[in-house]
Amino acid sequence: KKTENQLLVIFGASGDLTARKLVPALYNLYVEGHLPDNFVVLGASRSNLTDNQFRDRIVYNSNYLKERLAKKSKEHVDNFAKLFFYQDLGDSYDSFYGKLAKRIADLDQKYRTDGNQIYYLSTPPQLYETIAARLAEQNLNLQFEGWRRLLIEKPFGTSLETAKDLNVGLQNYFEEPQIFRIDHYLGKETVQNLLVTRFANSIFEPLWNRNYVHHVEITNAESVGVEKRGGYYDKSGALRDMFQNHLLQIVSLVVMEPPIGDAPEEIRNEKVKALKSLRIMKDDKTLFDHTIRAQYMSSTIDGKKVNGYREEDGVDPDSKTETYAAIKFFVDNWRWRDVPFYVRTAKRMPTKVTEVVIHFKKPHHQIFQDEQMGEKANKLVIRIQPNEGILVKFGVKVPGQGFKVERANLDFYYSDLVETHVMEAYERLLLDAMQGDATLYARADEVEAAWEFVDPILQYWNTGKDVRMYGYSAGVWGPENADDLIEGVGFWRNPGD
Ligand code: BG6
Repeated sequence: KKTENQLLVIFGASGDLTARKLVPALYNLYVEGHLPDNFVVLGASRSNLTDNQFRDRIVYNSNYLKERLAKKSKEHVDNFAKLFFYQDLGDSYDSFYGKLAKRIADLDQKYRTDGNQIYYLSTPPQLYETIAARLAEQNLNLQFEGWRRLLIEKPFGTSLETAKDLNVGLQNYFEEPQIFRIDHYLGKETVQNLLVTRFANSIFEPLWNRNYVHHVEITNAESVGVEKRGGYYDKSGALRDMFQNHLLQIVSLVVMEPPIGDAPEEIRNEKVKALKSLRIMKDDKTLFDHTIRAQYMSSTIDGKKVNGYREEDGVDPDSKTETYAAIKFFVDNWRWRDVPFYVRTAKRMPTKVTEVVIHFKKPHHQIFQDEQMGEKANKLVIRIQPNEGILVKFGVKVPGQGFKVERANLDFYYSDLVETHVMEAYERLLLDAMQGDATLYARADEVEAAWEFVDPILQYWNTGKDVRMYGYSAGVWGPENADDLIEGVGFWRNPGD
């Protein structure tokens, strides 16, 4: 695909995300020759920096690029650094837009970026609407000559209501097709590969339904705690931070019907339909039985004391915010009726891993007298990260007399495809937005459909009614009570098992 000449404006350019993710992603695009001939980046934020100071900060002195730049020629590094410019926005994000518009126009003219602009908002979400409004005041939303796109990072609201407000707020100034909502999980190769696994293989899709699938399990575990983000996280929690967006995106790809083709809107329409078919939990009993929340408690890992969640910086010592959430739910449609889905996400688990496990039913007629046949039913494990790949567990005969069945693995690792460079999530997503491809971006109705499902759970948890906040020691697979949720279908499959 062609990437047209363009100017990328990054709001919040002195922040962590810009240095940690965006600039390294741009660097990879630069190295791989994906940037258009005419391309410049204008960083904007409240810090008072010159162009050169900005370049020092995000290129020459960047810890995130240090290794990659070490062996490169000065010319190579300088040419990359020269793509960056900086504009101070004063201290309110509310003024200086006239100056900004002038700077954009000057750069556009000088570097011939054809009036095409992306505004990447890497700022606190409270500023999204203000920035959109100020851009519109300067006519920077209008697409007379060239196109204009607005990119935003999650969170997209903190509830159904605020998500709707944000959508309307942005749509006052930008048309929906101009708005790109990033969910970095969609930038992961293995997440996209869910579509290929399902719809490019005749050996899986015919089985991908209630007739053959017993249950679906999705685990997202991180070994880190809340790190330095206690202040943000304490107002968010696992359900908002991970489940509403990243995990429901994965769910939608597992659940969706085959799209007619791979056009962005075809895929996004099916995802919205999938999210709308999740059975919303309305009554307290279901919410009580099907949701579990917990917080990590202090513990000793490898001889080192690890803080409990409530002891973390920025976290209220009486905090009721969950760092672990496990949800059981059903999907009300023809394909998935009565198949339970179990999804959990947590911090301070034994390891960092995300995987989807499709547990198939055991064969409907049991020929071999093997008592453990049920446990040996087929499983398809889609390893999203790390060790990206796909594992099929199937039964083989144990050599010798009789028919004893043992489980064997068919295992594919992405790393075996040595010849391909796997793009980082941000790199891939940025390039897509630069090319105007919104397939891997969340649409307004998609975000709202995900909130429709999550909102009642949050509301129920907030009432405090009967809902326990369990504890788990940092470094274990969550509270034991989470096994009650999955009772009847076995246990959580802890990755590596
Ligand atoms: C972010 C969350 O969206 O995703 C973080 O805010 C979390 O809390 C991160 O750590 C996980 O992303 P990844 O790509 O490391 O799985």
